[in-house]
Amino acid sequence: MSLINTIKKRRSIKAFQPNYNINQNKLNKILEAGRMAPSIYGLEPWFFLTIKDKSIIKKLSDIYMNQNNVRTSSCLIIILSLNQKGFNYFMEYKTKSRGEEHFPNNDSEKYKKYIINKDVIEKISSEQSYIALSFMMLAAEELNINTCPIAGFHKDKLKKYIKDNNLFKNIDYYEPTVSLVLGKKDNQNKPFKIRRRDNSNLIYKII
Ligand SMILES: Cc1cc2nc3c(=O)[nH]c(=O)nc-3n(C[C@H](O)[C@H](O)[C@H](O)COP(=O)(O)O)c2cc1C
Repeated sequence: MSLINTIKKRRSIKAFQPNYNINQNKLNKILEAGRMAPSIYGLEPWFFLTIKDKSIIKKLSDIYMNQNNVRTSSCLIIILSLNQKGFNYFMEYKTKSRGEEHFPNNDSEKYKKYIINKDVIEKISSEQSYIALSFMMLAAEELNINTCPIAGFHKDKLKKYIKDNNLFKNIDYYEPTVSLVLGKKDNQNKPFKIRRRDNSNLIYKII
């Protein structure tokens, strides 16, 4: 399928077939699409905590506000984005391992000073994670796996759950920003009718 048709076909699914199991090869390809997403300075400031264990997804229900599409999904990808602690560590690592070539004018020190503030770091990190989210969403659609992006969850509670249950040892370096649920859509529950502003000068202007 052409990319443009994949984009047009994708819908946010509100209910999945609860017994569907996602194929591991397909899941690997989806995660690979996320890995290949571009990011500022090539920092890749994300980690994709991928949960296929349905008993864990069930336990996370409350944190995800009991959303039906989360409860019935076959897989939940929690996208974690670097926080200030993680960012400082990564900057050292990237500069050492790759040299300065990712930094404008080969000057990492200057850019470290510019973005050293916590709020700026977490904003930048989170923005990059949404690009990875989009790449994964479209890769899934191409592989006939349905999805829904999920921002409706309690971030602090999710981080605490990950930490308390040892789901990811480096959680202190990250914050949960957004998630993606995947599965096979439940055909009884059609997505809402597609709504977009029309393709006129409301959306863009070409000069
Ligand atoms: C960043 C982001 C977060 C979203 N969070 C949720 C969510 O928590 N729960 C949900 O059911 N849908 C969520 N959605 C899906 C939107 O409701 C959906 O994209 C929108 O209604 C347009 O429908 P479509 O994706 O089928 O075209 C989210 C979408 C985006 C882009």
